[in-house]
Amino acid sequence: MKTTILIFLLFTLNVFSQAPGVSFPFEQFENDGIPVSVLKNRRERIINNHSSKSLILSLSADIRNRQNDVDYEYRQNSNFLYLTGCTQNKTALILIPGTATLNNTTLNEIFFVNKRDVSSEVWNGVRMGAEEAKQYLGFANTMDYTSLLSTLDTLLYNRDTLFITGLPTTSVKNPITGKSTFIDQQIKDYLHDKYPTLFIRTSLPDVAEMRELKDADEIRLLQKAIDISVQAHMATMRAAKPNMNEYELEAEMEYVFHKLGAEDVGYPSIVGSGYNSCMLHYESNRRVAKEGEMILADCGAEYHGYTADITRTFPITGKYNEEQTIIYNIVLEAQDSGIAACRAGKPFKAAHEAARSVITKNLLNLGIIKEPAETKYYFMHGTSHYLGLDVHDVGTNKPLRPGVVMTVEPGIYIPSGSPCDKRWWNIGVRIEDDILVTDGEPVNMSGKLPRTIPDIEKLMKQGQ
Ligand code: GLY
Ligand code: MN
Ligand code: MN
Repeated sequence: MKTTILIFLLFTLNVFSQAPGVSFPFEQFENDGIPVSVLKNRRERIINNHSSKSLILSLSADIRNRQNDVDYEYRQNSNFLYLTGCTQNKTALILIPGTATLNNTTLNEIFFVNKRDVSSEVWNGVRMGAEEAKQYLGFANTMDYTSLLSTLDTLLYNRDTLFITGLPTTSVKNPITGKSTFIDQQIKDYLHDKYPTLFIRTSLPDVAEMRELKDADEIRLLQKAIDISVQAHMATMRAAKPNMNEYELEAEMEYVFHKLGAEDVGYPSIVGSGYNSCMLHYESNRRVAKEGEMILADCGAEYHGYTADITRTFPITGKYNEEQTIIYNIVLEAQDSGIAACRAGKPFKAAHEAARSVITKNLLNLGIIKEPAETKYYFMHGTSHYLGLDVHDVGTNKPLRPGVVMTVEPGIYIPSGSPCDKRWWNIGVRIEDDILVTDGEPVNMSGKLPRTIPDIEKLMKQGQ
């Protein structure tokens, strides 16, 4: 008890130990993000597409606590980021179709942000307040975050529908009671009690539709994330040597990500050697890669919120053996036919169908499978997903249109014990690139990264 009080006192003393007059500047370090006018346009499109009886609430992601006063690194909710450009927690946006008048001002959007708290800046860094939100995010109308609920109260008068976006929708399962709690359901229940006739939707389908088609600024930022990742994959392949730990290769990769300005990884780096290359989302990256094995490196940098998603599978010695070459070239052929199917008007699944049929044909020829249905033993995932602010980005699965960015990532994985000749065991190959659908030919945005066996072997020689 005494210790608790002491720690508390020390903490509070520190909080108020900032000398009078101390202040930090608010600085925006980069100016190559999504322009404020584009962000505003996105919000206008949503407002114009909703009835004046509806209201749209977008919430920033909450912090995730790690232990005591230490949190996990913060990542903004992607829909909120898409609409506001704001990377700060405890912020919110209300869009008001049909406008409302508050304090004699008629408005169609309000951005909620807390005041700058100078006394906490020496601890937690500078956060934007209303002035900064006006200047850097272009919000003309801001209110204090603490007034969010009361403002929602006022604005819901005479409205019949509330759309909420930005909530975590995965459940937290209580290990004792076995009960699941969904945050979106909690908010729904709370609001239903308060506004029994209000229709509440905890999603905003318009945003998924809009995010599916990338605009010029998004393509620019995606290309930047991809270019950084291409450099990183090349550096990793050059550095690879037998007896390196998987984490050493991961370090080469992520060093280049950060060195070239990426803020984060878009997903935990997957660096699997030998049998680990047969685990699709392997991420512990602790094993030693032995002579004769391949490395499956599925790694993508995140730049200003946009992520790359690239996989290469290369031999740790720099030279593919006979079995590795055979399997690699099948996956390469499958990828080529998948990429060719990324054309406007084709079904979203066309790339998968094309890649799978190449893999089935070749596995039958090699006797690795006896009938087409067995393909799923060795190619157990889809070929494509959308790519953008999230690695598995949102979208509608409608026929492809120009502006869609998607992965094409076929693979063949043959863990030991598989019902085929042992010579194939422990080979896992995935090749993944990021493809932009256009009016004409598909554009391979990660196409500068060597992909064929001769090109990869040549690149790896440079490191020897
Ligand atoms: N990096 C995860 C995936 O390829 O889908
Ligand atoms: Mn992927
Ligand atoms: Mn991937």
